[in-house]
Amino acid sequence: MPDYYETAAQVNEYLVFHYANIEQTLRWEFGPHQAFGFHTRLAECIDSSQLSEKSRALDLGCAVGRTSFELSRYCSEVLGIDFSHSFIDTANNILNSGEIPLVLTREGQLGDAVTNTLPDGVHPERVSFLQGDAEALPGSIGRFDVITFANVLDRLPHPRVALDKLAEISNPGAQVVVCSPFTWWDEFTSPEERLGGFKRNGEDVTSHDSIVSALEDNFTLEATYDLPFLIREHERKYHFSIAQTSKWIRLEN
Ligand SMILES: C[S@@+](CC[C@H](N)C(=O)[O-])C[C@H]1O[C@@H](n2cnc3c(N)ncnc32)[C@H](O)[C@@H]1O
Repeated sequence: MPDYYETAAQVNEYLVFHYANIEQTLRWEFGPHQAFGFHTRLAECIDSSQLSEKSRALDLGCAVGRTSFELSRYCSEVLGIDFSHSFIDTANNILNSGEIPLVLTREGQLGDAVTNTLPDGVHPERVSFLQGDAEALPGSIGRFDVITFANVLDRLPHPRVALDKLAEISNPGAQVVVCSPFTWWDEFTSPEERLGGFKRNGEDVTSHDSIVSALEDNFTLEATYDLPFLIREHERKYHFSIAQTSKWIRLEN
């Protein structure tokens, strides 16, 4: 579904997901408050003490850019790449203005327009955004010391192709974090291209196991995590997901 992430409604939903504070996101006393702040928690999977002064990060499938800005706290160069032109235009507007205009939808057309700003301590001057395809990355982007690849695999027509590229674009010792709730939809990934969620020869095939098979020749699996996240559709409807997360270290070969 190539246009799914191009609409104004998706742009706003992702601006709220990435940049709204917890009171703006979830005003109720009840609810999955631990799922707030996904992009900060994702960036914290990176061990900054292992990075040199000049470290390059790639946020693959960056959407409107929050993880890219979070990585700029300890990486000297951050590139965010996303397939959606609307998301990349929005991320570039944030980069240039430092302002994030978003609407906190209450019901239907009703909502509150607010303008947020980038969090303290990030370095926009280190960040750039590029429209591109995780399955066909340009060679000119070079290699990276940090890669985040969050919630994208189950939105790709050929997720294995994108996984295979990770070794080509990472430096020895690179920290690579891959995560997804593995919500496979026919509109994005045909059943035969999926990483998991089916039986083969009577055995369960999980997406995590397929990621391990795809990466284990070139990476060491350092850790696994379960990262919850919360996307607000409107004041009374949310999408609560738990991304199965694996952190990998690029081998020297
Ligand atoms: C579920 S969103 C996740 C966005 C972000 N990583 C996050 O966790 O907030 C999926 C993202 O993948 C992007 N995407 C889909 N197909 C892509 C492709 N072929 N290459 C790069 N990004 C893609 C979409 O535009 C969208 O921003």
